[in-house]
Amino acid sequence: MALTSFRLAGLELKNRVLVASGTYGYGDDCLETADPGKLGGIITKSLSLKPRIGNPPVRIAETAGGMLNSIGLANIGVHRFLSEKLPFLRSVDTAVIANIAASTIEEYCEVLRILEGEDGIDGFEINVSCPNVREGGLIFGTDCAAVAEITRRLRALTKKPLLVKLTPNVTRIGEFARAVEAEGGDAVSVMNTLIGMAIDIKTRKPVLSTVTGGLSGPAIKPVALAKVYEAARAVRIPVIGIGGITNASDALEFLIAGATAVQVGTANFIDPAAGIKVAEGIARYCDENGIPDVADLVGSLDAGSGTSVLDSWL
Ligand code: FUM
Repeated sequence: MALTSFRLAGLELKNRVLVASGTYGYGDDCLETADPGKLGGIITKSLSLKPRIGNPPVRIAETAGGMLNSIGLANIGVHRFLSEKLPFLRSVDTAVIANIAASTIEEYCEVLRILEGEDGIDGFEINVSCPNVREGGLIFGTDCAAVAEITRRLRALTKKPLLVKLTPNVTRIGEFARAVEAEGGDAVSVMNTLIGMAIDIKTRKPVLSTVTGGLSGPAIKPVALAKVYEAARAVRIPVIGIGGITNASDALEFLIAGATAVQVGTANFIDPAAGIKVAEGIARYCDENGIPDVADLVGSLDAGSGTSVLDSWL
């Protein structure tokens, strides 16, 4: 049997498949159909200091091969998370990464401070990339200096694994990954959603209440793969690949492109066991191909004499 476990900034994960923030609730939603203990990790819904009701409807729309969302970081807030959700998460035999969203750098720090001492929180993923809020989100995520500052400030507050979730809505994601690495971040999650929109041609109105939203699902996989490829060549810290992964073949592409691990997102809405099936499929592929350790796949792309336009950006 191939070795599937690995260490992410000192944290032992049983496999390289995590479920993405915002697609798996707080871990308890999916319990009837899937055992979250079989995952490498659960990344919680984004947590803010105060509860947020999010954006008005319509805030979800289906598109060809994908989904547009404009949830607006709706969540129960960090204090209710601690009392209502963390006890269950503690009972699950998997790593729990708390995703943090905020409107100000101070709020990021405050939420992390509240979570830092809590048993059952194994690490943090910092959301600087939500495309659906006016404060925080992309204001930070498209500004390399702000991403660096947030990483620096949060790094000083925790020794637990610190991941920063980057937006693809920039020209050179490698520069943002480098900023995270330079300020002591342990890993980057690449990528959050692409800004997109849909229009109702009968009314000529936008489908989403916020006009634009974030596109996810299989439609974005080729973009995500290229962003992971770019980021993984720009930094030495792990790149966690995310974007349109629905099955093990998709995940294998990300590992081969340079991702150390992957996150399954939108596919969870179709099948809450998608992440588990992806993890099992990766292990099966290794066994069938005589690969002793999933690590052997990471960055194993054989580009031959092919060169990418991205190479000139590195
Ligand atoms: O609107 C949302 O809650 C989306 C969050 C995100 O993409 O990070």
